[in-house]
Amino acid sequence: MTMTTREAELHRGLMGVYLDSTKASFIDGAVGKLMYRGYSIHDLAEQSTFEEVVYLLINGTLPTHSQLEEMNSVLLAARAIPDEIVKLLELVKDSHPQDALRTAVSALSAFDPDANDLSPEAVKRKGLRLTAQAPTIICAHHRIRTGQEPVAPHASLSHAGNFLYMLRGEEPDSEEAKTMDVDFVLHAEHGANASAFTTRVIASTIADFHGAIVGGIAALKGPSHGGAAEAVMQMALQIGEPENAASFVRNELDAGRRIMGFGHRVYKSEDPRARHLRDRSRDLGEKYGDPKWFQILTALSEEMKPYQARGIWANVDFFAGSIYHLFGIPEDLFVPIFTMGRIPGWTLQALEQYANNILIRPLLRYTGPMDVPYVPIDQRG
Ligand code: CMC
Repeated sequence: MTMTTREAELHRGLMGVYLDSTKASFIDGAVGKLMYRGYSIHDLAEQSTFEEVVYLLINGTLPTHSQLEEMNSVLLAARAIPDEIVKLLELVKDSHPQDALRTAVSALSAFDPDANDLSPEAVKRKGLRLTAQAPTIICAHHRIRTGQEPVAPHASLSHAGNFLYMLRGEEPDSEEAKTMDVDFVLHAEHGANASAFTTRVIASTIADFHGAIVGGIAALKGPSHGGAAEAVMQMALQIGEPENAASFVRNELDAGRRIMGFGHRVYKSEDPRARHLRDRSRDLGEKYGDPKWFQILTALSEEMKPYQARGIWANVDFFAGSIYHLFGIPEDLFVPIFTMGRIPGWTLQALEQYANNILIRPLLRYTGPMDVPYVPIDQRG
């Protein structure tokens, strides 16, 4: 018997469904393993830089010195944004920064010489340009909305260092820049998560690359995805002191609410990215003489320990927000930070989709009424 649309087996949320193959990242959620292009996330977080990871993701191999220098000069040259985009950011200065970024990336297609070219070379160029421009957009918007002049991109600082420089108007110390760099490395790519899937869906219609990235930015914003770091910090601020964490967790869970920064669709053991941010959150808290946020999050983790047996562990977003907070970054910039890190991953996934395209078009099981007699409008009571 042929299955009809009313009987088909459902895979709600596409849970457990493999939609295509990839060379971008490998994730084994049962044991908490993550590799980009075959390289362990731990080696990359401990030994690499975001720029090297960008090269790795987009080109498939780690760069030599000269390859890295060549790509860095492209990134440096692409950091500035057109004046028209700055004016646009003034118009949307009251928007959430992620919405402002989404708007600006969409508008940037009007200024991109490769806008309608979907060749792999053009997609790589656009991916690098957007990687370079995203921090400039985010920082310009933030400075405009806080009544400050945007800071022009630095001519030599690293991607991470330049972001902190443009945001705060002064050069970060090397430890701050390194922490930000590691954060970007950890966020660079992560399989068929909701935002990468959105990027692929848009690319699968052979629509433009900027549109595919705009979709990724929109999908990342939600609290089930990249918006979780913002929600974790709000939770930490609400908890206020480490000794309040245990009762907070109990009250939230008793009320049927979730603890943000915990749980993951794929990881049923510890998210391998979390430990790097946990260590840096602790070290930074000590350095700044403000260990409270790390202590609150640690107390919260202790209370969540029984949930590990159910596969609920801290995820990448759990400690990230406490680091940004120590950097003096407001919570609504947390998801744009995630976005800055993720653009190379989306670029690679769009490249893969365009290179071996198939329209992504699942089905929905219909559960509504059937064969309803049509009643003309003047006979409806
Ligand atoms: N706190 C308490 N219980 C949880 C949590 C949590 N954070 N996450 C999952 N559960 C429970 C959930 O209530 C459900 O219980 P039951 O089976 O009794 O109904 C069970 O675990 C399975 O949850 P689910 O929603 O079916 O699982 P999912 O794979 O759809 O959820 C998730 C994944 C990330 C949406 C979810 O864990 C969540 O909402 N976490 C909080 C938000 C968060 O931290 N998001 C960031 C994810 S990592 C970064 C990223 O990818 O962007």
